[in-house]
Amino acid sequence: MVDLQERLDPAYDGVARFLHWIVVFLIAAQFVIGWIMPDVHRDTKPVGLIAWHLGVGAALIAAMAVRIVWRFTHRPPPGTLSPAMSMISRITHFLLYAALVVVPLLGWANASSRGWAVRLLGVLNLPPLAPAGSTAGHTAGDIHGVLAWVLFALIVMHVAAALFHRFVLKDRVLQRMMP
Ligand code: HEM
Ligand code: HEM
Repeated sequence: MVDLQERLDPAYDGVARFLHWIVVFLIAAQFVIGWIMPDVHRDTKPVGLIAWHLGVGAALIAAMAVRIVWRFTHRPPPGTLSPAMSMISRITHFLLYAALVVVPLLGWANASSRGWAVRLLGVLNLPPLAPAGSTAGHTAGDIHGVLAWVLFALIVMHVAAALFHRFVLKDRVLQRMMP
């Protein structure tokens, strides 16, 4: 019986599940650090929690780059959702991916405009996304803060939907993504 259900509604492949949960972990850390780190001003130095925000951010950018390549080359498994539900989930997933690209890029542009290096794993310098002192990079920082809330709202909806599937509809949607 379980076998039949698994065959009708198979799980995401192992790499997709691994990348999903790595990104969840990095984003959770990134929100907490973003909220508790000191306010950033003109003469702020990128040390302490701000350095952590840049470091975790660089790891997130790398993980998302790999994830997007993987997603384009590996379709999600077919599901058993109704056409309407499948459409809603596709739109929400697309918006999540879009926010997961745009929010980090805006943060990176803001860091570059402050002349701060963004380093992957503390060694590999990522190229600056905006010239030091640029107004566009400064504005990117403001939009970064606002869009982080949009991403947060999408995540709340997404997690609520996952729990709704698990505990109300009692289907296999959550199991498809479990590690
Ligand atoms: C999804 C990933 C990210 C989330 C959820 C996030 C979240 C946040 C939050 C909540 C703040 C505080 C905003 C405020 O107080 O107005 C912030 C500020 C900031 N973040 Fe991120 N961040 C992310 C990725 C990144 C990345 C990848 C970088 C750079 C590599 C970055 C660089 C910055 C900078 C420089 C600031 C200060 C902006 C300013 O106040 O002008 N962030 N971030
Ligand atoms: C930072 C938080 C999260 C983000 C950014 C996120 C993002 C995503 C994205 C973009 C997808 C689409 C995957 C694809 O089709 O390629 C997805 C799928 C999924 N996520 Fe999350 N997720 C988060 C947290 C969670 C949590 C906490 C749960 C569980 C409670 C969860 C459960 C799922 C499930 C079950 C799927 C597969 C849905 C399906 O079968 O189509 N996610 N997630």
